[in-house]
Amino acid sequence: MSQRQIVKVVDDGGDAATVVSDHGFPLPNFPDGPGIDGVRSVKIRDDDILIITYPKSGTHWVFEIAREILSGKIIDDNVSKVQAFMEMVPEETYADFPSPRFLISHLLMKHLPDDVCKKKIKIIIVLRNPKDVAVSLYNFWKTLPHVNYKGEWKNFVRPFFHGKFIYGSWIDYVLEWEQVKKDNPDLPVLTLFYEDIKEDQMREMRKVCEFLGVERTDDFLSKVCDNTTIASMKTRQKKDDSGIQIYRKGGVGDWKNWFTVAQNEWWDQHFQERMADSPLQFKYTL
Ligand code: A3P
Repeated sequence: MSQRQIVKVVDDGGDAATVVSDHGFPLPNFPDGPGIDGVRSVKIRDDDILIITYPKSGTHWVFEIAREILSGKIIDDNVSKVQAFMEMVPEETYADFPSPRFLISHLLMKHLPDDVCKKKIKIIIVLRNPKDVAVSLYNFWKTLPHVNYKGEWKNFVRPFFHGKFIYGSWIDYVLEWEQVKKDNPDLPVLTLFYEDIKEDQMREMRKVCEFLGVERTDDFLSKVCDNTTIASMKTRQKKDDSGIQIYRKGGVGDWKNWFTVAQNEWWDQHFQERMADSPLQFKYTL
């Protein structure tokens, strides 16, 4: 029997969303996706750079920033395609990309090729506060015909928290990657926070320069800032016809417009229970 099946997951109101169960792990229904088995067999190069994010945490933004920093060029092409998204596109899509390549994934380390760890490739992990992630995913899903989700926000929050939708629970995801860092102290990992980039993009970009081993002037970095505002990236996406709406509000704290007081209390209580032993701190407002 195939390890991948299209399944429906239902929210608290009985509204369904279409996802794929791959080895029992919930993934988006990517028609060209190689699945976990395909991702596991991707050939990793020593100088690949992996961007790891839970969905809706700023993947496209950080990819754009990082590739401009690495190339030393302001790139004015279509930004909506995250070209080497490992579980979304077949390996052939990026097999011929020149080195160093950026690979992107929302998966966990156990789903990735063993060489990610063995070759100690550079990994940039981007984290975002999970309340804004939940709001972002909810709004994104409503735009995706293949998910076909018509549910209401009030029925979305609890199953999202418990990881019923895609990529499992945000908490499991974040804690599992934290454990990978602990277990592999010599793995080169840069952890960035979406909110920190919003707060001071120049400061966070200097960390990226150092991590990637490149020197860039403040003048260049300020041009990268201008080229990677959400407005600028939205405009460039218009050249694309995919219709996927990655660029929405791009702020910190939109969750306040969505969470009811009761939802927020419920969330905080369950969040604190699960995250009690984690030193990670998230910013929910700026
Ligand atoms: P919102 O839905 O809260 O606006 P991902 O790329 O991981 O799918 O993340 C998408 C989220 O990042 C969306 O959040 C999107 O608007 C935001 N985003 C994308 N580009 C951005 C940018 N240049 N600056 C700030 N936020 C950005």
